[in-house]
Amino acid sequence: MSESPLHVEIRDDIAVITVDQPGAAVNTIDRAMRDAFRQLFDELERDNRVKAAVLRSGKPDMFIAGADIEEFLAIESAREAESLSRDGHALLERIETHRVPVVAAIGGPCLGGALETVLACAWRVASDSSSTVLALPEVQLGLIPGAGGTQRLPRLVGLQAALDMILTGRNVRAKKALQIGLVHELVHPSILDRIALERAREFASGKRGRGTSDGTRRHGARELLLDDNRLGRSVVLRKAREATLKKTHGHFPAPLAALDAVAAGYSGSRENGYREEARLFGELAVSEVSRQLVFLFFATTALKKDPGVAPPVPEALPVRKIGVLGAGFMGAGIAGVAVGAGTIVRMKDADHGRVGRGLAAVRERLDERLRKRQITRQQLLDQMTLLGGTMAYTGFDDVDLVIEAVFEDLDIKRHVLREVEEVGPERMIVASNTSTIPIARIAEASRRPERVLGMHFFSPVHRMPLLEVIPHAGTAPRVTATAVAYGKKLGKTVIVVNDAPGFYVNRILAPYVGEAGRLLDEGAAIDAIDKAMMDAGFPVGPITLIDEVGLDIAGKSGAIMFEAFGERLAPSESLRRVVESGRSGRKGKSGFYSYDESGQKRDVDDSVYDLLPGGRERREIPPSEIQMRCLMAMANEAARCLESGIIRSPRDGDVGAVFGIGFPPFRGGPFRYLDSTGIASATRILESLYAKHTPRFEPAGILVEMARRGTRFYPERGHPLEPSGSGPAR
Ligand code: NAI
Repeated sequence: MSESPLHVEIRDDIAVITVDQPGAAVNTIDRAMRDAFRQLFDELERDNRVKAAVLRSGKPDMFIAGADIEEFLAIESAREAESLSRDGHALLERIETHRVPVVAAIGGPCLGGALETVLACAWRVASDSSSTVLALPEVQLGLIPGAGGTQRLPRLVGLQAALDMILTGRNVRAKKALQIGLVHELVHPSILDRIALERAREFASGKRGRGTSDGTRRHGARELLLDDNRLGRSVVLRKAREATLKKTHGHFPAPLAALDAVAAGYSGSRENGYREEARLFGELAVSEVSRQLVFLFFATTALKKDPGVAPPVPEALPVRKIGVLGAGFMGAGIAGVAVGAGTIVRMKDADHGRVGRGLAAVRERLDERLRKRQITRQQLLDQMTLLGGTMAYTGFDDVDLVIEAVFEDLDIKRHVLREVEEVGPERMIVASNTSTIPIARIAEASRRPERVLGMHFFSPVHRMPLLEVIPHAGTAPRVTATAVAYGKKLGKTVIVVNDAPGFYVNRILAPYVGEAGRLLDEGAAIDAIDKAMMDAGFPVGPITLIDEVGLDIAGKSGAIMFEAFGERLAPSESLRRVVESGRSGRKGKSGFYSYDESGQKRDVDDSVYDLLPGGRERREIPPSEIQMRCLMAMANEAARCLESGIIRSPRDGDVGAVFGIGFPPFRGGPFRYLDSTGIASATRILESLYAKHTPRFEPAGILVEMARRGTRFYPERGHPLEPSGSGPAR
């Protein structure tokens, strides 16, 4: 038998239970853990010496990170998942009603099944450390809490606060947890164990009794009023359902199922709610949406550990101070996240005014974070002290890394590269944030091309989670490893992609947006195209996206892609004409849509139709055709990128599309989408589209080959990232 994840020490009449999974960095709840709990509570039943217990973690700054998600992969049927949930109910009910009351000592993350476990405890003490967060993140994996979370939490903290946690998966920090009554008390981490033990002693001696589970509720009169009567609850639940549908467009079943489970808990017997929770958990656990979201979880987790270079992996260089060239929109965005990560930043621009505006933009962003309580005033001040502006490279003599975000112009980029190499130290790495210029072309101007690469951020920098790191053929592996490590430090999910026009994300965006343009050429209505793609799961439609990015920029990058890849990526007539007309999109308050004074999008600007083929007479193209053409154009290009080594793996391609473009996460990414469609079917669809729309849609060679051999990008069962032996032909 392997070592037990639970260690029990009996101190007088108290059992101190320490959760410490052998050989693991974090505690997760797996079968062995559940069995150990069951056995322990059996033993405690018989051990009359023990009158109360403390549940704590043996890992520093980590309580329990929730269920072991790998175990979910082995679930074969809804019935099996349902019975797993029922077992969980039985175990936690046992703990809740056990002769021995349990005091939970929560320090560090307490997530999912861990939070459900402490909800069944008699008392909850949390450390007031910043690492202590409590959450029910199940919906993010397409699931609902399956161990009583949808039943116990609303009763403890009230319906609204509970829904806020269950429907979003949001982290609740220690202080907030106390405010909403999720924990009973907060203490300094250094006395967490001692206080928990004291409370257990109070239970043991009878000084403290098990209260009702809602004894800690601290919500206001209004919430209580709403919670405690049926009408009030049904209003809250209905509003939550409406808000959820609006947000998810019905693509994510889990939050709706969670609402059903919560509602069931208020109607009929207590058992009714638990039964419904288990049934819905079972259904969701084997759903396609959950499978895709679980895949994305594994993919991003794997990328966190990926150094970005092949072995032997060089050690990343330290990055303590950076220089940012260009204090414009992207430069200021990058500087903002860099100071947030504790880096010293010098931002350079051409004149006083621009430097000042850049600094002000960073300040505005920090003020916003302060308003949202993401940082304290002290943190804001500390971060502003890390930031300085210059017009003359002052302070650049000891920067470890320079991120260049000047105008998108090869000559200017080469010019600033030469300038900065004059003043910076030998060790300095220079990264360009260019969106379209090949890195090798920029590096040609360098004295140390092995220290030049691309770091392509997405806008707005603080919100977009993806970073593309682009080494050119001569970039040293250690330089790539450093850029990847630093990108992770900024909180980004980093993919390493090859140096070719558009890199990966903009490359697959080009035929997608291009197809939307072709649909306009054929007479489709602007809003019909956008609606079809939002219905398919994109956060905004492709035409809105063009307006957002800027028509001038879309036009320029379209031309670059056309030049590089030929007719297949030729810009549409519609886009060409609108760009030529001088409309620039949202920034100029004139594009495919109209905008109000503050830049808020209004309706389609009908006058733009006068510029398009077909004029104002639009014709109906079925949404399914719009969706199929745009999705397939993107997926086929993604396959080409894999084939030509632009991306290292389908995993990187899927993560890049979901986090860089907003490809519908419930479809997993373009490669998962191709797998779900079936490679052979996808190839047939592409062939028929190709017959109609030559030269677009010619199936990528890799797809034809895979269809012939009957292979897939990912294994059909089991762990999505472990080789199945039937991967793509490469
Ligand atoms: P921007 O026009 O807002 O900022 C460029 C800044 O560079 C300006 O403040 C300008 O004064 C400054 N600059 C120009 N020449 C300079 C020089 N010789 N020395 C110092 N500063 C100089 O442009 P934006 O949007 O920030 O773009 C910057 C770069 O980022 C471009 O290469 C662009 O392609 C890329 N990019 C832009 C994205 C976007 O959504 N805007 C997304 C990803 C990359």
